[in-house]
Amino acid sequence: MSNTPSPEPSCCPRCAKLARARARFCDACGTPLHPGETSHSDREGELKHVTVMFADIVNSTDLVAGLSPDDAEAILNPTVTIMLDAVQAFGGIVNQLRGDGVLALFGAPQSQEDYALRACFAALRMHERTRSSEQRMSLRVGLASGLTFLSTTGISIAGVYGAFGSTLHLASRLQSMAHPDSTLCDASTRVAAGPSVEFTSLGQKALRGFSNQQDVFVLTGVHHRISRFSEAVSRGLSPLVGRDSELAELNKIAARVLAGTSAAVSITGEAGVGKSRLAWEFTEQLQAGGWRIVQADAVSYGRDVPYQLIGSVLRSTFGIDPSIEPSASADGIRKQVAEIGDATVHLGALLSLLALPLGEDAAAWGPVGPQA
Ligand SMILES: Nc1ncnc2c1ncn2[C@@H]1O[C@H](COP(=O)(O)OP(=O)(O)OP(=O)(O)O)[C@@H](O)[C@H]1O
Ligand SMILES: [Mg+2]
Repeated sequence: MSNTPSPEPSCCPRCAKLARARARFCDACGTPLHPGETSHSDREGELKHVTVMFADIVNSTDLVAGLSPDDAEAILNPTVTIMLDAVQAFGGIVNQLRGDGVLALFGAPQSQEDYALRACFAALRMHERTRSSEQRMSLRVGLASGLTFLSTTGISIAGVYGAFGSTLHLASRLQSMAHPDSTLCDASTRVAAGPSVEFTSLGQKALRGFSNQQDVFVLTGVHHRISRFSEAVSRGLSPLVGRDSELAELNKIAARVLAGTSAAVSITGEAGVGKSRLAWEFTEQLQAGGWRIVQADAVSYGRDVPYQLIGSVLRSTFGIDPSIEPSASADGIRKQVAEIGDATVHLGALLSLLALPLGEDAAAWGPVGPQA
């Protein structure tokens, strides 16, 4: 069995795209082109769709000029820690760490469907936290997405890879071009991140080392997360086929709830089989019948965020729009709670859970300890 890929062009066994001569993996979908070959490099690396992040502290050389190494550490480390925390919070891995910056990968070693979105969230969090930190340092961040070869050849540290491919170089170029406090992204990151992320186009730019001009975008923010199914709804759904028995079953449960019981229903099934559609059809029917629908989404990268799902339920219940001033949202909640007239609601706890300003309720919340 040969260790050398065929020099002849071949087609991908999965997506049928014509492959480059000598290519080991399909450029379009990453499938191994010669699965029978047990070559050395097949065993020690993987081609993956990832978002590569380069993030650096602006002017770090000037900041530490003339300082001893441990003083330099004291100055820069709090900001580097913020960068590491942001990468980890959104499920990225830090592949290289310097005293003033990181190279991080999103979508590896486990594939993540929303790798580019996670990278955008992490970049925004880094800027926000470094700006508001005591050191008030500025960062330059570059994000680029695409197929990247992650090699473990010659690396004995778990979780660290040799990363190869033009995506890496592009992310590095974008990082060095970014203005302080900003993130530049390539076109693939913009597409992969989806419609919940906002970008401003800088047009096409010539980048050193790249023969073609590259579309460059500034990452400007994330609006309320739009699920893939909500996108499908806004594009228009095809007529519903079948699902009569499932809807009848759900309606029976709703009738029991109306009679005074409570119920939780779990819908499970293969990806794309129609779980979200069934839930949507059902809630549409309920809404038409006068029910009030509270919708909350759990997001995979929110696993480490305390009370993420209950926070989402409460935001939906109180109709909190993230674009509204936090103090206005807090006032809105106070008003709604007063209308309900339930004396057991602890406003301080509620506002604190939603990270909203406590205002006059701080006095009642402050003394409450975990034992209370
Ligand atoms: N019974 C149905 N009739 C017509 N179209 C359907 C039906 N069920 C699902 N679809 C359509 O198929 C597509 C995929 O369905 P949906 O998003 O509900 O799947 P899912 O199981 O939630 O997928 P995922 O596991 O990826 O979240 C959607 O465009 C949806 O409108
Ligand atoms: Mg779904």
